[in-house]
Amino acid sequence: MTQSLYRLVYYSRNHISSDDGMFAANVDDILAKSRSNNVRDQITGALLFNAGCFAQVLEGPLENVEAAFERIQQDDRHGDVSLLALDPISHRSFPNWAMGFVGTSDVDAERFTGVATASGFDPSHLSGDQIHTLLRDLTIEEEAAA
Ligand SMILES: Cc1cc2nc3c(=O)[nH]c(=O)nc-3n(C[C@H](O)[C@H](O)[C@H](O)COP(=O)(O)O)c2cc1C
Repeated sequence: MTQSLYRLVYYSRNHISSDDGMFAANVDDILAKSRSNNVRDQITGALLFNAGCFAQVLEGPLENVEAAFERIQQDDRHGDVSLLALDPISHRSFPNWAMGFVGTSDVDAERFTGVATASGFDPSHLSGDQIHTLLRDLTIEEEAAA
């Protein structure tokens, strides 16, 4: 039987040193771990880093999404983790992404300018729906560019 799908959206404050090398190494580590766990757990989604905040969409079976979110909340690489939405969905918005990442590279910054102006680029000013739409549009653009 197919398990019903849920989408969770949260944002948090970065605690990783803003030193470039340090930040990049930590994000690489987070993404590598996320991608292997998420494939195992049938979770897809995307992670945004901007303005000192992370925002993330996780979609998959409820139990797995909740277990991942529990682990994520315990992680001291970020804090003030705020749940914005947890809703049933009929289909995935990120079927091809074990965890997409939209960060601070020039290319990503350019993409923001096109899509994220309304938020002042600060994820903490966005609703769960807005973050979901923003990340979906950005990852669709990335797929088109690939
Ligand atoms: C911003 C951020 C996003 C993360 N996203 C995920 C994720 O999507 N999936 C995941 O399994 N772990 C994610 N993690 C890592 C978890 O916090 C945790 O380190 C990891 O799940 C532990 O996995 P392990 O028990 O297999 O070692 C994230 C961490 C941070 C700081």
